[in-house]
Amino acid sequence: MELLWKLLLLLSLVESAAGSAVLLRPVFTKQPGSVVFPLKPGEDQREVVFSCEAQGHPLPSYRWKLNDSFILPRPGSHYSLMGGNLHISRLNKDEDVGIYQCVASNSFGAVVSREASLHIAYLENFKTQRRNPVRVREGQGVVLLCGPPPHSGELTFTWIFNQYPSLVTPDTRRFVSQKTGNLYIAKVELSDVGNYTCVVTNTVTKTSVQGPPTPLILRVDGVMGEYEPKIEVQFPDVVPVAKSSTVKLECFALGNPVPTISWRRTDGAAFGRKVEVNKDSGVLEIPYFQQEDAGTYECTAENSRGRNTVQGKLVFYAPPHLTEKPQDVQMTIDETLVWECKASAKPKPSYRWLKNGEVLDPMEDRLQVNGGVLTISSLNMADIGMYQCVAENKHGRVFTNAELRVVAIAPDFSQNLLKAQTLARLGGDILIECKPRMSPRGVILWRKGKEALRESHRAQGFCGDAGAATETSEAQEKFPKGKINGYPLNHSSVLV
Ligand SMILES: *[C@@H]1O[C@H](CO)[C@@H](O)[C@H](O)[C@H]1NC(C)=O
Ligand SMILES: *[C@@H]1O[C@H](CO)[C@@H](O)[C@H](O)[C@H]1NC(C)=O
Ligand SMILES: *[C@@H]1O[C@H](CO)[C@@H](O)[C@H](O)[C@H]1NC(C)=O
Repeated sequence: MELLWKLLLLLSLVESAAGSAVLLRPVFTKQPGSVVFPLKPGEDQREVVFSCEAQGHPLPSYRWKLNDSFILPRPGSHYSLMGGNLHISRLNKDEDVGIYQCVASNSFGAVVSREASLHIAYLENFKTQRRNPVRVREGQGVVLLCGPPPHSGELTFTWIFNQYPSLVTPDTRRFVSQKTGNLYIAKVELSDVGNYTCVVTNTVTKTSVQGPPTPLILRVDGVMGEYEPKIEVQFPDVVPVAKSSTVKLECFALGNPVPTISWRRTDGAAFGRKVEVNKDSGVLEIPYFQQEDAGTYECTAENSRGRNTVQGKLVFYAPPHLTEKPQDVQMTIDETLVWECKASAKPKPSYRWLKNGEVLDPMEDRLQVNGGVLTISSLNMADIGMYQCVAENKHGRVFTNAELRVVAIAPDFSQNLLKAQTLARLGGDILIECKPRMSPRGVILWRKGKEALRESHRAQGFCGDAGAATETSEAQEKFPKGKINGYPLNHSSVLV
């Protein structure tokens, strides 16, 4: 009884607050975004702020998760909370990298924010060491290794020939792999003799480091004869490519004469206009990758001595993208809730549900999770809360938010009054509807005058969501009367 009063009080709060446009459950107004922090040598300002803000009444409190475990800020810790924002000072690339999520909660429930990743981009120096000279014959092919130092973040590579600013310009004969940094010379000429230095640039930190120079020396014991292409740079057998991303395939061969490189799809389909084939650099570039771009690609290197091919399969994948999300609902006790959550993704997504930020454990028979569909039957007050559907595949995760309110309503006739008077025809049938609003469902009783109306062949009462009685008679008076959860209620109708 006391509980019920509390709930009713709560409900009236909900209604009055909704009237003054104040939201009660936590609703995110700011969620964290992924951060790539560029770590530059000699820079002390190593601080990152993840933002999080939610509205709600009572005011939400905030907690943060790193890799699915709660962060417990201890005194002296390099984590601190300012409002909902998480400040991380003295960033450490070994301890702080991971997936962050904000959890906002108040007495109505909790919500988990989207996931934000923290990456730290850095580039260390080459461990200075000499590189042994590489000796080749004229006409031979050669590979000079770059061997970039430890790093995180995307790298680009160039090579200095002898002294800066003289750089190696890639052409049909010389190739710089942007995957490994290695320099390939298909067929060495006299003019190639000199010192080669690999320059590694981190595109995030915008810092560059130089490797030790490698001298290229010509052997004098003869000239290399002609030979068929030998493919030295090739792409993997299977290349997973994210929807809408840009993929670059590298292919380069050593050979004498200098081989020509060509590309094709093995299914014979022509390349779309967006596909860029750069014969000079041995790179095939497909921007804005879509399902139809998936397939097997083949690179052919050819010269007068022969030809060689390599193949690789581009596999399309897509992180989940929501196409259907559950909406906030208000339901009554004993009703059945059905929420559907749908996401498009490749491979197909799996679904989980969270209640108040915790994994929903469908232990009870009432609760069923079937794909993206959550069903809760025989709703009760304990089911109230914030629910989130999580759709995920190995390439990503998305979260939805929806609130479930379950209300208790004492029987109320105000929306569906019994007709004050019902005109009846002698010998005819009449139907008097009794449809009080109430939650949970109650018992409906009928009275005629002071006497309880008993069911007979002439008078029938139907109970359910609605109660109705039929009676064939002359002028009569009826008093339906429900007594539910201690609330006596009644309404009357007069037959004339
Ligand atoms: C979080 O998970 C990522 C990926 O598994 C891992 O690289 C990182 O070290 C983890 N971070 C922490 C602090 O455990
Ligand atoms: C290459 O480097 C070595 C040692 O630093 C130097 O003696 C030589 O002159 C350089 N060669 C060229 C072509 O610059
Ligand atoms: C039912 O309603 C009638 C008319 O409003 C009232 O006279 C009567 O006392 C009520 N009975 C109960 C049990 O509340």
